[in-house]
Amino acid sequence: MMFYFKKDHKSLTLFMVITLIMALALAGCSSSSNSSNSGNAATAVDGGEKKADPIIVKFSHVTTIDSPKGLASEKFKELAEKYTDGRVTVEVYPSSQLYGDKEELEAVQAGNVHIIAPSITKLVGMNPQFQYVDLPFLFKDNDAVYKFWESDANKKLMNSLDNYGVRLLAMWPNGFKQFVNGKYPLVTPADFKGLKFRVQAGSVLEAQFKALGAGSATIPFGETYTALQQGTVDATENTFNNIDTQKYAEVQKHLTVSNHGRLDYCIIVNTKFWDGLPGDIREALEKAMAEATDYAVELAEDLDQKSFENLKNAGMEVVELNEAQRAEFVKIMEPVVAEFESVIGKDIIDAARAANQ
Ligand code: LMR
Repeated sequence: MMFYFKKDHKSLTLFMVITLIMALALAGCSSSSNSSNSGNAATAVDGGEKKADPIIVKFSHVTTIDSPKGLASEKFKELAEKYTDGRVTVEVYPSSQLYGDKEELEAVQAGNVHIIAPSITKLVGMNPQFQYVDLPFLFKDNDAVYKFWESDANKKLMNSLDNYGVRLLAMWPNGFKQFVNGKYPLVTPADFKGLKFRVQAGSVLEAQFKALGAGSATIPFGETYTALQQGTVDATENTFNNIDTQKYAEVQKHLTVSNHGRLDYCIIVNTKFWDGLPGDIREALEKAMAEATDYAVELAEDLDQKSFENLKNAGMEVVELNEAQRAEFVKIMEPVVAEFESVIGKDIIDAARAANQ
């Protein structure tokens, strides 16, 4: 385009203004093209290679940032970004910020979030066998749980996730569940009569509380504090760390150490997203996940005991069941294992028992 100006003062000023506007417009174009996502094509900028925009991995979960799951997912972020040399950015969303219990399962299948870390029993809608974690007194200690994770029965169970567009990346522990009550100490099975417990999901937990003469209600994790505070439910069960980091001590006074069930996690990824990643990126993420998993195991055991101390310091009244008292609970709750054997599968129950040896 050509402009013609008479050489008078007014025209010169107009010419300068137009020149300035054009220069600014050109500069704007060039900077916006620098910041736009131009795929993986490397563009020369100032003599250097333009870096492609990072691949965003969204990781959503429901616990606090200082829980074992919160800290291990931050560790995964740190390692993933390091091992991919910044080609991946992991965005971690804790405390149900992005999705709650049910929504996160739908979101990962739809690809709206890439990785989630639900408690195993919450996968009951995909396969009721995942409720094995809730069978009362199935595992004797943490090592038995880790041994079970390596069993063929568990591998087969985890492969069943493939039918739902998600894949298992890792398993992370939290710990054994304990009982919490707002009204009075829970010492014998008779103390449970008539109480209503918040549960995570599934018919095994419903049957467990029924065996104790109590009722139950499924309430999302993110809504449980309020439900306990407002008396929608009287009581609940959870790990020391979840009880601690969710601050249940503010609204529930009594803690019974029973170690009656497990709460652990499946770290799952949207399969389409995972398979669509460049091979070297996927390998780097697998390495990051393996190391974050070692960290998660160490952390869960350490935080479990620290949280137990925190709960005592927060003023909770603790009942540690002695052997005879615990035996009463085993006797009343164990029939639930037989009741659900056909649902869970004998191979899973046998593998869990073998892991206790
Ligand atoms: C719960 O709902 O109690 C747990 O599943 C929360 C969690 O993710 O540890």
